[in-house]
Amino acid sequence: MSSRNAEQQQFRFKYLLYLAAALPVLFFLFKNYYTDNTMAIKNVVLVGAGGNLGPSILHAFLKHSPYNVSVLSRQESTSTFPSEVKVLKADYTSIDSLTTALKGQDAVISLVGRPDAQQILVDASIAAGVQRFIPSEFGSNTADPAVVAKVPIFKGKVGVIEYLQTKEKEISWSGVITGPFFDWGLKVGFLGLNAGTKTATLIDGGKARFSGTNLHQIGLALIKVLEKAEETKNKYIYVSSFETTQNDLLAEVEKITGEKWTVTQVKSADLFKEGGEKLAKGDFSGIPALLQGNIFGEEELSDSTVQGLWNEKLGLEKESFEESIKAGLAGKLYGDH
Ligand SMILES: *[C@@H]1O[C@H](CO)[C@@H](O)[C@H](O)[C@H]1NC(C)=O
Repeated sequence: MSSRNAEQQQFRFKYLLYLAAALPVLFFLFKNYYTDNTMAIKNVVLVGAGGNLGPSILHAFLKHSPYNVSVLSRQESTSTFPSEVKVLKADYTSIDSLTTALKGQDAVISLVGRPDAQQILVDASIAAGVQRFIPSEFGSNTADPAVVAKVPIFKGKVGVIEYLQTKEKEISWSGVITGPFFDWGLKVGFLGLNAGTKTATLIDGGKARFSGTNLHQIGLALIKVLEKAEETKNKYIYVSSFETTQNDLLAEVEKITGEKWTVTQVKSADLFKEGGEKLAKGDFSGIPALLQGNIFGEEELSDSTVQGLWNEKLGLEKESFEESIKAGLAGKLYGDH
């Protein structure tokens, strides 16, 4: 073999080595390009958008997202929506009717309460080719068995997630955990503070740290979850506006109102007992007590920093604690609505 041939062969060998080294890089680039393309979400539909949270999510999507947003409601529903929103109607008990309505949608955000209705919605979403299903969580951390043990109605929510986990080859999901609705909770007194009577009901001394989220921020979080569809796939996503305690809230409202509020102390154990007894008799008015015992009780079951917040990863902006409280006390919500 001439030395020239040997050189040529060496050159070819080197070339092959470079190619072999480049292959994983090329594969990686291709894979990312490919996944980004398949996960591109364009059409989003909100199902059951008439309640407390729905209007805020809808507003956030219309104002702050690039998505084509529609709402799906029951045939007989009388809910009204902003004129720019396309309203789709379906029979929630019929997979066929739901599948027809969901054709062309890439993501479904469910605000539907009933677990059985959510399961039909999952089946219809799969049949319609929807990529991402966001089940009706938005509240307590139902991924924690200690939470579910205290609030048995959460078993339904857990069941929906478990069902989605069996369908991951066909559809992906994200469970968005927000803690109590912060501004709304102040507005209606759920956080234990009553602006009308300037009274505070503190649970277990008001010391438990909890995470809470303003309704507008929940809408923004959902937009980001869909924008980062690959990272947020098949996971619980924890977001919040603030971490605080009932005592800190009381100090803030007393500062804002310039008055001392009347305080009542209660124990979470009593709330669990009362709420549990009512619920056992089929009286759903026991649920708020169970939720409050959970959120503000000494076990601190609603502190989402334990699981790790996604706020930074999602690029959510910080909100004003004081302004959020002022809005809630005035019977309003924080952020543009
Ligand atoms: C926007 O959504 C509506 C309702 O689902 C649909 O009819 C329409 O084709 C969508 N627009 C685009 C550009 O995909």
